[in-house]
Amino acid sequence: MKKIAVLTSGGDAPGMNAAIRAVVRTAACEGLEVLGVRRGYTGLIDNDFKNLGPRDVANIIQRGGTVLLSAREPRMRTLEGRAQAAANLKAAGVEGLVVIGGDGSFHGAYYLMQEHGIPVVGLPGTIDNDLYGTDHTIGYFTAVETALDAVDKLRDTAASHERIFVVEVMGRHAGHIALDVALAGGAEEVFLPEDTKHISEVVEVIRSSAAKGKTSSVIIVAEGYPGGALGVAKEIDAAGFDARVSILGHIQRGGSPMSSDRILASRLGEGAVRALIAGEYGVMIGRHNGKIGQTPLEETWLHRKDVNRDLYNCAKTLSI
Ligand code: F6P
Repeated sequence: MKKIAVLTSGGDAPGMNAAIRAVVRTAACEGLEVLGVRRGYTGLIDNDFKNLGPRDVANIIQRGGTVLLSAREPRMRTLEGRAQAAANLKAAGVEGLVVIGGDGSFHGAYYLMQEHGIPVVGLPGTIDNDLYGTDHTIGYFTAVETALDAVDKLRDTAASHERIFVVEVMGRHAGHIALDVALAGGAEEVFLPEDTKHISEVVEVIRSSAAKGKTSSVIIVAEGYPGGALGVAKEIDAAGFDARVSILGHIQRGGSPMSSDRILASRLGEGAVRALIAGEYGVMIGRHNGKIGQTPLEETWLHRKDVNRDLYNCAKTLSI
């Protein structure tokens, strides 16, 4: 193996740059050339590659976003798009591809391998932490910290004005961020996409909080919970209370990665290159109980990584 390529795809996540750096520098240590693909699969289909050496990835470990840019590329869902992407890789002499992204990006990688024999390795890069096969995804730790910082600030206002705040955090299909933020932020209740809890239950939470002498409340809602924060707030208002809504949105995706994300990204990036060199393809490199390991790409989306229900129980106990 002489040359590999690396791309970032889907939603950006803090730590993606640390992963790119690790891929490029591990490859350089092993005498491999690296091509960086710009704008994820868009650049793969449009042949937008650039050479990356160790100095090209200097001073990026601390930067949020992705220096390679990212995109969600609908052409990767077509046979023609994938054929063009594979043809470009082969013409450039690329013998292995590292894809840093979430499950949508992994689907694209999987089909490139199945249909065109491209050796691919995935790195879990998404703030949502919703990939099976790794305890944490790159970007998750920082996103939780960013959301928690916002919740702490909102709590100051909630306390000062004796108000109810309903805070929406990211997580289209998974409530990992919501659950961590709820526990760490001392929330009164949390609504997750995984929940069967009816939205009307929030009213009982608010009533019993008031009965217990609480003068303010913070309710966390994952964006994937039906109705989102606006729906939950509407329910509260309809019961005669006055709720304020704060939707944190994309601020959770940016910012300098925390040490935990940089360390995870660095180890996984190194692992990806070592896997390619060893001829281990079609896998995601993840970390489980501190150990770096591999999971077949298709398993990362076929199995669901459930949220840790113990965290919910703990948050409820402590919100007495
Ligand atoms: O997958 C990461 C994520 O931030 C989700 O939490 C969110 O639902 C989605 O991306 C938003 O995507 P976009 O930036 O394309 O609006």
